[in-house]
Amino acid sequence: MTAADVLAALADFQDPETGRNAVQQQQIRDVEVSGNDVRLTLALTSHSAPLKSETAQEVEKQLRAKLPGIGAVEVRHAEHDRPPLPLGEIGLMAKSVIAVGSGKGGVGKSTIASGIAYGLLRAGCKVGLLDADIYGPSIPHLLGLRGKAELTEQKKIQPHELEGLKVMSIGFMVEPDQPVILRGPMLHGAIHQMLRDTAWGPLDYLIIDMPPGTGDIALSLSQILPLTGAVVVCTPQDVALLDAVKAVAMFRRVNIPVLGMVENMSYFLCPDNGKRYDIFGTGGAKRKAEELKVPFLGEVPINIQIRVNGDEGKIAGNFSNAETAPHFEGVVAALARQLRETMRTNRPLPTLSILK
Ligand SMILES: Nc1ncnc2c1ncn2[C@@H]1O[C@H](COP(=O)(O)OP(=O)(O)OP(=O)(O)O)[C@@H](O)[C@H]1O
Ligand SMILES: [Mg+2]
Repeated sequence: MTAADVLAALADFQDPETGRNAVQQQQIRDVEVSGNDVRLTLALTSHSAPLKSETAQEVEKQLRAKLPGIGAVEVRHAEHDRPPLPLGEIGLMAKSVIAVGSGKGGVGKSTIASGIAYGLLRAGCKVGLLDADIYGPSIPHLLGLRGKAELTEQKKIQPHELEGLKVMSIGFMVEPDQPVILRGPMLHGAIHQMLRDTAWGPLDYLIIDMPPGTGDIALSLSQILPLTGAVVVCTPQDVALLDAVKAVAMFRRVNIPVLGMVENMSYFLCPDNGKRYDIFGTGGAKRKAEELKVPFLGEVPINIQIRVNGDEGKIAGNFSNAETAPHFEGVVAALARQLRETMRTNRPLPTLSILK
């Protein structure tokens, strides 16, 4: 077995970010063969960071399937640098822009949106979080971020930062107890400006926390830049599901693909007796997702700690608590997998038979 055999065995291996051939993109590097043992470097972009170990396992699986008799396989990791291209007219430098919304208020959009953003950051991605809830910005409170936004030397708005997560909200531009009074059309301008004038820097992901209700902001967003997709949050109860169905239809209407549904407040595990209570019913979102042919990205139970962390502005707490962490991490991983699926199916590898 030679290094060339190893590369040939991985000839159709796809980069999870682009769906393009990883060997051709020089993302499979430094192949060393000694006897039957193989060592190689897998270089992924920071956009693919949540799928790092999974992708390494897939590399090993493919090698074992194609090279019978192969011995130990060691996959080392390296970072592959591929900067984002400017998006839309405003030239936002982000690879994936994902809106998190629902039809209904109070179902946990902001909690899930900030959880997704923070989870991606923890995995090693470059992430921005935009609070698009102009009338009721709750991201500053949920993340414990205070103070007015400053202007940079280039006259851009400096986002607040939480461990490197770049956060922008209208809450950083008004006094916390003052209402934002804007007419409908001015909403569009506010969103446009926060997207365009914030010093985001290059991002792997921009997560947008949507306000409840009508499609105003979704429509504005879809006009300003191409969104990668939307995540719809709902609770298992019938009224919330009805609104979620509308939200899915609304995103589809403005040509924002729905990447998946998250069921929040799925059940309550009583800390006293360990008993599970399905307060709003359970499993409804999963069934609805199947009906709507939308991927289901996971469920998050009702947990007192999630509420306390929200009130205290400690998003990190949801990732350090043994009961809540797997749920948040599960949603982040499912979302990353879903994006990879989109790439695999939407951008099939161009195969030129003369190169075979
Ligand atoms: N799984 C959960 N367990 C316990 N509390 C939760 C959970 N999810 C959200 N909460 C709490 O419920 C409240 C509403 O959540 P959040 O602000 O995320 O909802 P929202 O859908 O963004 O609301 P709005 O429609 O007002 O924007 C917050 O106090 C939050 O801490
Ligand atoms: Mg909210």
